[in-house]
Amino acid sequence: MVVELEYIPGITLLEALRQNGAATYLQAPCGGKGTCGKCIVRIAAGECSAVTSREREALSADQLKKGMRLACQVIPEGFMQVELPAAGGADILSSAVQFSGRLTPLITGQKVQLPERGNKEQVSLFDSLRSAVVGIEDLSFSAAVADSLARVVRRGDKAVTLVLDGNRIVAQKSDADKESIRGFAVDIGTTTMVVSLVDMVSGTVNDRVAALNPQSSFGSDVISRISHASEKEGGLRELQDCLADKLLGMMKQLSLRNGIDFGSVYCAVLAGNTSMLHLFSGVFPLGIAQTPYVPVFTEGVKYIEGTGPLGGSVFPGMITCLIPCRSAYIGADITAGVAAVGMDQQLQTALFVDIGTNGEIVLGNSSEMVCCATAAGPAFEGAHIACGTGSVDGAIFALKEDESEGGLHFSTLGGAAPAGICGSGIIDCAALLYRQGLVDRKGRFLPVENLPLTVPGELKSRRIQLKGEEVFLLAAGAESAHGEPVYFSQKDLREVQLAKAAVAAGIQTLLDHRCIDAGAVEVVYLAGGFGSAISVENAFQIGLLPSELEKKVEAVGNTAQRGAVFYLLSEDFRQRVENLRQEMEYLELSFDKGFSKKLMAHMYLDTR
Ligand code: FES
Repeated sequence: MVVELEYIPGITLLEALRQNGAATYLQAPCGGKGTCGKCIVRIAAGECSAVTSREREALSADQLKKGMRLACQVIPEGFMQVELPAAGGADILSSAVQFSGRLTPLITGQKVQLPERGNKEQVSLFDSLRSAVVGIEDLSFSAAVADSLARVVRRGDKAVTLVLDGNRIVAQKSDADKESIRGFAVDIGTTTMVVSLVDMVSGTVNDRVAALNPQSSFGSDVISRISHASEKEGGLRELQDCLADKLLGMMKQLSLRNGIDFGSVYCAVLAGNTSMLHLFSGVFPLGIAQTPYVPVFTEGVKYIEGTGPLGGSVFPGMITCLIPCRSAYIGADITAGVAAVGMDQQLQTALFVDIGTNGEIVLGNSSEMVCCATAAGPAFEGAHIACGTGSVDGAIFALKEDESEGGLHFSTLGGAAPAGICGSGIIDCAALLYRQGLVDRKGRFLPVENLPLTVPGELKSRRIQLKGEEVFLLAAGAESAHGEPVYFSQKDLREVQLAKAAVAAGIQTLLDHRCIDAGAVEVVYLAGGFGSAISVENAFQIGLLPSELEKKVEAVGNTAQRGAVFYLLSEDFRQRVENLRQEMEYLELSFDKGFSKKLMAHMYLDTR
């Protein structure tokens, strides 16, 4: 994809691409600091600043010769034409959701008989409606609703469907429209977003759409985005606007392709981590990133129609509700997810683990719940990994020994030439290196001359030095999508060890807090796209989860998305999520004295 950019003095090419809306196609995990080396573009035409030392470190001579540059290091000096990497098909988990409980949606429709025009008792229109509406006291309404109802009565209509937000009339519809009360259930992930279109009358999900979070070009992790929002003039607004614009675009896309009138969408429910919900609301988020990690709000927020970041003219009647969070690092994605799998109603002791840019863990059952969040780092999302990538075409997502030939066998998304390695492939690779004896239990790459005799020759030949680093070669430049080698390095393995140790130590801390052994846990819910994609066997092999849990794992998919749908449709579910906000115990690991010791112990690849 080639993008043409107007010249704006004094900003980097990455910033210009963000302003143009094209940065969605770029990876920029470090948020523009020049340290990740991922924001690679090709300058097709135009004048710009000279190659920096950071670019010389990150790019090969061949790449520089071809005009490749790091977008965050380039200062345009005039009009520019820039070639962006091919946008891979984002493979985002957006599995189908079915709701089967008692339907008590956030927005309801109730058909009522209208009073005769000019009744002799002189009962006002709204007093008549108050007696006609069933099950609702203190009916309230706005002047706009009163005006439209008065006109309907004047016209001589006999009945109308009132659209109700609790006891508040938000709109009236002619009787024929009763069946069309729609809502959106939204999961705002740090990396990816899913919007589902929900029929609130029947409780069915009609359609859904997924996309990358456009804030990714400001950094792959929430901390980079909080820094941008807190430190840069207008940064918070920039992050809020790009998110709201993208969500509205996804909502419009869903409505148009399903033939839904924008005026019949009455509610959007948003799940997401606490930082995402602060950024969505345009609320200064710095407290989340700095000790003692205090968010501005955790309660559910409701923006009535016409207000809030989505309250413009596109969906004029749409209310926006944010699902309650528990703490700075246990967000609405987790409260909604835990309720969606039903952990808060079960007698059996369960562990809920959601590994993304952070690792959130909940342990408990219907009588008590305790949770924590680990700074697992985004290694499992491909960030901070030399050839790491998201789930895009060409990403190596599965990897194993080729048993018949003693070599390596891998699969890429879309069957494309290898372009990098994503989270599930990273776990497979770490497990394979340890299993085959190419690294020791401390995660040290063994010198080639010290490799055990059992290591097959083909795997041994992949243990090379590249750019001064010890690496395991996955694909040579000639085989890869971009002509550069794809590899997994010693430094990458250290990142994986840190991430897996953080999750494992978090689990251990919760178990110790409840004074139970891992064996007492009856089921492990592995949530999120990562949980569904990984080889559970390999995750256990590198000690991501305690070995006692090996036969108890259930991959439960995108529970945040499912929770957002249920929140839209069930009062009981909404109450349960609120109970989790108020009652689930939260442990802040950075204040836990024993945590660092556990973290160190779990750095070994054989610590389960
Ligand atoms: Fe440019 Fe990280 S090096 S965004």
